[in-house]
Amino acid sequence: MKNAIYFDHAATTPVNPLVIQAMTEVLTQNFGNPSSIHQFGRKAHKLLAEARKEVTNSLQVKDSEIIFTSGGTESNNAAIIGMALKHKDKGRHLLTTAIEHPSVLMTMKYLKEQFGFEVTYLSVDKAGNLSVKAFKQALRKDTILVSVMAVNNETGNLLPIQEIGEILRNHKAIFHTDIVQAIGLLEINPEKLGIDLLSASAHKLNGPKGVGFLYKSANLPFMPFFHGGEQEGRFRAGTENLASIVGLKKAIEILNQDERKQRFKKYQILQDLLFRKLDEAKVKYHLNGDLNNKLPNILNLHLENVASNLTLMKLDLKGFAISIGSACTAGNVSDSYVLAAMYGKDHPVLRESIRISFGEGNTKEQVEKLANELIALSQKTNKEEK
Ligand SMILES: Cc1ncc(COP(=O)(O)O)c(C=O)c1O
Repeated sequence: MKNAIYFDHAATTPVNPLVIQAMTEVLTQNFGNPSSIHQFGRKAHKLLAEARKEVTNSLQVKDSEIIFTSGGTESNNAAIIGMALKHKDKGRHLLTTAIEHPSVLMTMKYLKEQFGFEVTYLSVDKAGNLSVKAFKQALRKDTILVSVMAVNNETGNLLPIQEIGEILRNHKAIFHTDIVQAIGLLEINPEKLGIDLLSASAHKLNGPKGVGFLYKSANLPFMPFFHGGEQEGRFRAGTENLASIVGLKKAIEILNQDERKQRFKKYQILQDLLFRKLDEAKVKYHLNGDLNNKLPNILNLHLENVASNLTLMKLDLKGFAISIGSACTAGNVSDSYVLAAMYGKDHPVLRESIRISFGEGNTKEQVEKLANELIALSQKTNKEEK
C-alpha cells in the first residue's frame, strides 16, 4: 500500500487530513446529541447548523432545503421513491437514462415492479452523450419525475442538465439530478438550473464515507423515507451522524476556496500528459466518452486487444489502482452497462476498457509511470497477437 499509486478517485478518495482533524474534534469533544436541550446538545446543534450553512452557501439555497443523509445511494433512493410515491396521483411515468448509477436504476426498477410505475431509460450515443431532442420526445404529459445525472461515473461525460432544467420549467415533472461525480469540480446552483432535487456524497470529495446530502427545493411535497424522530426537518428520522457531517462540511469548505478551478486545471494537464505519452508510443487506444464534453478527472480508455480484467490485475501487482466498470458494484467484474449503452451488448470494447480517475494527490510523475505500464502492456499483447 505504501508505494501504491491510486488512480481510482471516482470510486472513492482519501480523506483530507483537515477533515480527519475536524471529525476527531467532534468525536472526542462534542459527543452531544443535536436534539438534546442541554449544553452538550446545544453545542452539537450549533455544529450541525454550521455544517448545513456551508452546504447551503455553496449551492446558494436555503437551510431548510438540505437533508443530511448517509450518502449518494440514500439520497437517490429517498429522492426518487419519496417523490414518485407522493406524486403518483398526478401520473405514473418516470424518465431517466440507461447510464445512471445503480442506486437510481435499481430504485426505478423497484418502483416499476412494486408500484407499477412506467419507466423510460434513455440511451446515449457512441460518445456517451444524451440527446436533448430524444429527451424532449420521451417526456410525456404523465411524466412526474425526471432523474438525470450531472456527470457519469464511468466516462466523466457531462449530461445536459441545464437544457433539461430549462425544458422542465414548463412541465409539471420534478427534476432530480445526481451530482455525486460533479460536485468536486463544478459549482452547481440548483435554482438557476431548475433542479428540484439533488443528491451528493462526501467520499468523492476527500470527505468521509457514509455521509451526504439531499437538496429538496422548498415547498416540494415529499414522502419521507425514514420514519421516527423529527430530525432534518422531519424528512429523515435518526440522530445525525455529526462527526461525518462536520467532515463533509470541511471537505466542501476546502473545495470552495478556489480549489475546484485549480483541480480542474491540474486534471486537464494530467489527462493531456497521459494521452501524449500513449500517442508517442503509438498505443492503439481510444477514449470512451467525449473529450469535448467531459470532466478531465475521469478517463475511460479502450486499449485494443488488451483484456481489461488482466490489465486491472497486472497493474494492481505493479502497485497501480485503476478500475473497470462501476466500482460501486465492487467485486463484480461483469460488463459495464454504461459502455453497453454506448456500443451495444457484447461489443469487444466492453472487455478491453479501463477507468483511470485522478485525484488531489496525483502527480505528473505518477501519470508517466502509469503511461509506461500501459504502453508495456499494450506492446506485449500486440506482439503476442502477431
Ligand atoms: C454517480 C454516483 N451516484 C451515486 C453514488 C453512490 O454514492 P454513495 O457511495 O455515497 O452511496 C456513486 C458512487 O460511486 C456515484 O458515482
